[in-house]
Amino acid sequence: MDSKHQCMKLSDGHFIPALGYGTYKPQEVPNTETLKATKLAIDAGFRHIDTAYAYLVEEEVGQAIKSKIAEGRVKREDIFLTSKLWCTFHRPELVQDSLKTSLKKLGLDYVDLYIIHFPVPLKPGEEIFPTDEQGKTLFDTGDICATWEAMEKCKDAGLAKSIGVSNFNRRQLEKILNKPGLKYKPVCNQVECHPYFNQSKLLDFCKSKDIILVAFGALGTQRDKKWMDLSFPVLLEDPVLCAIAKKHNRSPALIALRYQVQRGVVVLAQSFKEKNIKENVQVFEFQLTPEDMKAIDALDRNLRYLPAKFTEGHPECPYADEY
Ligand SMILES: NC(=O)c1ccc[n+]([C@@H]2O[C@H](COP(=O)([O-])OP(=O)(O)OC[C@H]3O[C@@H](n4cnc5c(N)ncnc54)[C@H](OP(=O)(O)O)[C@@H]3O)[C@@H](O)[C@H]2O)c1
Repeated sequence: MDSKHQCMKLSDGHFIPALGYGTYKPQEVPNTETLKATKLAIDAGFRHIDTAYAYLVEEEVGQAIKSKIAEGRVKREDIFLTSKLWCTFHRPELVQDSLKTSLKKLGLDYVDLYIIHFPVPLKPGEEIFPTDEQGKTLFDTGDICATWEAMEKCKDAGLAKSIGVSNFNRRQLEKILNKPGLKYKPVCNQVECHPYFNQSKLLDFCKSKDIILVAFGALGTQRDKKWMDLSFPVLLEDPVLCAIAKKHNRSPALIALRYQVQRGVVVLAQSFKEKNIKENVQVFEFQLTPEDMKAIDALDRNLRYLPAKFTEGHPECPYADEY
């Protein structure tokens, strides 16, 4: 691992770098941007890369990693790569093949972390978001515990070094933790987390179970109109974040990232701009005071930018519970 980067220990003994590069992109952005930006991220010092089947960029992410390995800049074992099981592959018999499909696209023989993207199963098939003629989401039935057992087999097969979940609420995490015959605990829960939605209750719960919380949307998301209400306030323009940034002579983005690292959260940051990518790795170069942390904690307003409306109406919709 790059010495610049702080890591956190996962419950299965592996280590995850506390800062990760996010590779979600809006549909209108060409995939070549992902290839370019992921290379820049590795050059800048990012050693943790977060992708997913559903982002449709696994080829480019894999190409970026392999080109940096070919240049001699990194070795495969220096990179911590995450991918995610999409909702249409929850049926246990589909899980391992789905991971193999991702690995084929990536051109790699393992991922460091494979996580269930959402706790909600969708109708199996080619469509990422299967819908009926009225545009209503086509759900599947299924049991997250059965999906989890198939995830455990992926780890046993060496296709994923670690396994975890994303967008799970407390009840859903408990369902897995209490599953009879549980072989491996989820090492992480990747969820939306930022000063306007700080997830303090879920974070406390995860810490009590040795589950690492991984924050997405930590910079206020890419504000993709497909997924969010654009009338929501812009996180990085928040006056308190801006004042703390000014005091430390850092950007509001760095303050938002540092906030997570200091509360024991692994944080993802996405950017297509070289300047911002280079800036974001500075998260380990400074510290917020306890007063700064308290002031940022006080910004929480239960504002979920990405409500994942396609999950609404399913009994496992994760956001129906308080946390
Ligand atoms: N598990 C899930 O369901 C889920 C959901 C959403 C996201 N994710 C993951 O989390 C990653 C991060 O979340 P996200 O993509 O929503 O966005 P994000 O990291 O919260 O924010 C990205 C935005 O911040 C801007 N930015 C980055 N660095 C900056 C800096 N130093 N100064 C000013 N602006 C800066 C970027 O603009 P520029 O390009 O202009 O820099 C971009 O528009 C995703 O890419 C994905 O890997 C997972």
